[in-house]
Amino acid sequence: MELKILTKRFGLPNSTSIETYLAHEGYQGLQKTLKEFTPDQVIDEVKKSALRGRGGAGFPTGLKWSFVPKQSPKPKYVVCNADESEPGTCKDRPLMEYDPHQLVEGMAIAGYALGSKRGYIYIRGEYMYIVPILEKAIDEARAKGYLGKNICGSDFEFDLFVHPGAGAYICGEETALLNSLEGLRGHPRIKPPFPAVAGLYGCPTVVNNVETFTAVPHIIMKGGDWYRGLGTEKSGGSKMFSVSGHVNKPGNYEVPMGYPLMQLINEECGGVWKGRKLKAVIPGGSSVYIMTAQECENATLDYEGMVKAGSSVGSGGVIVMDETTDIFETTYNLIHFYNHESCGWCTPCREGTDWLHKLFKKIHRGEGTTEDLRMIERLCPNIEGRSHCPLGEAAVWPITSAMKKFPEDFRRRVREVEPVAAD
Ligand SMILES: Cc1cc2nc3c(=O)[nH]c(=O)nc-3n(C[C@H](O)[C@H](O)[C@H](O)COP(=O)(O)O)c2cc1C
Ligand code: SF4
Repeated sequence: MELKILTKRFGLPNSTSIETYLAHEGYQGLQKTLKEFTPDQVIDEVKKSALRGRGGAGFPTGLKWSFVPKQSPKPKYVVCNADESEPGTCKDRPLMEYDPHQLVEGMAIAGYALGSKRGYIYIRGEYMYIVPILEKAIDEARAKGYLGKNICGSDFEFDLFVHPGAGAYICGEETALLNSLEGLRGHPRIKPPFPAVAGLYGCPTVVNNVETFTAVPHIIMKGGDWYRGLGTEKSGGSKMFSVSGHVNKPGNYEVPMGYPLMQLINEECGGVWKGRKLKAVIPGGSSVYIMTAQECENATLDYEGMVKAGSSVGSGGVIVMDETTDIFETTYNLIHFYNHESCGWCTPCREGTDWLHKLFKKIHRGEGTTEDLRMIERLCPNIEGRSHCPLGEAAVWPITSAMKKFPEDFRRRVREVEPVAAD
């Protein structure tokens, strides 16, 4: 069963307007925060909720917020990662398109908790049509006293600005995003220091995903324990999953964390299309291990459950593939993407993804040999763990898992040759 918390205002007439938002519990979380909570209490409530970052890594949000040195004399920034470029993922888009005030409110509460006066929404360049929707919401919130100076009559001051990216996947990585926001080239920074300590303009900064911020007003309104209780002990709340591929009803579905993956596919999405069998699922956007149909059987959609099942929740982009799918071809498609999106900063990823792409291309043309497959297997560990940012791993995981779990789809594309000794 779907659980409508973040999505509960979708479909209301004029759902983006502040009047609609106010008529449906809008800005009550912010008012309650300012009346009843100290900044530390907000952080404690978010910790209690077991909310984990919805951008992909699943880092506990309250813990991240507690890393910001509040005594620092520097300004603090709240940054929303709305770059949403992960293949198969399209859940931040409706959250901003249909209910932009929910995000504004979540960011304002975060601003209060962190002692910040300014926040930025870094939105992917291809979502340009959402920029006016967000800017209108920000203007409306300012006009009604939910942003700006003396918010809701208190001495809290916070304002928000929208900044569109220019279409680079790497700018979704939080430190590349911060560079891009500063007007620099979108290359990832070396961590540590982490953004919580030295982020935007070298100042303490919290970067969170759209969906993460939108959960915050609900946590404040109904309590961290309530939110945690919706999901599992370590993965609290609800989460949106973008289901695409070979299902009867693809779309965005909000379900409790810990929901069975096969129930999402069979009940919410109407099952695998054309009466075919399931072959594979990439469950968390493309940067995670592919799963076999058997692995999917008992998998639950929470951070621990998905690791146990052989993959991860990632960004929640569930790509479903039926029995006719050629896993070599889908993997080829992905390496094309990662090679194109590698920012080129470090050698293992820049050269490695290019080599991988060339080898896949050769096999795709029908000119591949078993030696090419062995070369791919030797290349992957030279990228994984040796790259400057996680894009290196993201490029390799779909390949290594696909070759291990669907070896036949690779072997039948190549000609058998004698192994060449590796150096
Ligand atoms: C290559 C790459 C792309 C990423 N793209 C996104 C993205 O589009 N949106 C996002 O929220 N996080 C993305 N992330 C994760 C961010 O670096 C960061 O972990 C996240 O914004 C933190 O927010 P959260 O704790 O709310 O998940 C990406 C990471 C990498 C390595
Ligand atoms: S791993 Fe790839 S994307 Fe990340 S810094 Fe290196 S070249 Fe750029």
